[in-house]
Amino acid sequence: MQKTAPTIDRKMVVQKLLSQLGGGSYLEIGVELGQSLLPIQARQKHGVDPNPIVPMRHRIRMFMQNMFSRNKVHLHQMTSDDFFACRSSILGDSKIDVALVDGLHTFEQAYRDVLNCLEVLSPSGVIIMHDCNPPSARIAFRAHSHSEALKEFPADGDFRWCGDVWKAIVLLRSLQTDLQTFVLDADFGLGIVSRGTPTSKLSYSREEIEAMSYEDLAARRLKLLDLRPATSFNEFLASR
Ligand SMILES: C[S@@+](CC[C@H](N)C(=O)[O-])C[C@H]1O[C@@H](n2cnc3c(N)ncnc32)[C@H](O)[C@@H]1O
Repeated sequence: MQKTAPTIDRKMVVQKLLSQLGGGSYLEIGVELGQSLLPIQARQKHGVDPNPIVPMRHRIRMFMQNMFSRNKVHLHQMTSDDFFACRSSILGDSKIDVALVDGLHTFEQAYRDVLNCLEVLSPSGVIIMHDCNPPSARIAFRAHSHSEALKEFPADGDFRWCGDVWKAIVLLRSLQTDLQTFVLDADFGLGIVSRGTPTSKLSYSREEIEAMSYEDLAARRLKLLDLRPATSFNEFLASR
């Protein structure tokens, strides 16, 4: 029988990192249905979304969990910018061990979300960015919401959309000298951002990155993203 390659997704990556870091606190930017926020196990979970569509039965379960369990889950109905503007009144002195950036899929918002996450991240914390490796120009279409993108697509039942979040990776790898940033080739590209000296750097200006097109990404995907096989996540875990 033919073996399929082992694959990973954002939930597995988040959970393995949380386990390594002692199962502490998790922040998710962009919650939608709660398909990641709800199953992830952590002592403190914060989800941020201006329009979450978490079903009522799960909201009731979250309420019960907050009443009776040591593990707490908080849903903040606001944009990530608003959340970070009042972060001290929400988080106090507590730090985040693992953050998932999966909110508004424009590169400038994803980049700002990462920089803001760093302000609340524990020293050994890790930021995961979803949708960093779009497989086609259509999926990388620049829009300010999923519904805006879908209006431009043919009605063929394919709802996949990453936006131009990939450019946030190129910005991080070009402009941030104290961050290690690479992308795992799994789940539409999982950006992994942690503090440390970059293993390789890019030297594009912000203007050059803004002017890049999907064709630029397609031609130099490995280099622009530092794209690594999904299996290299185990090496990353072991190196920490
Ligand atoms: C792709 S979904 C998130 C999926 C979720 N992280 C998961 O793993 O199932 C993106 C979400 O980002 C939310 N969003 C849009 N703009 C946002 C913003 N400025 N701040 C935070 N979330 C935002 C949308 O409402 C949407 O629910």
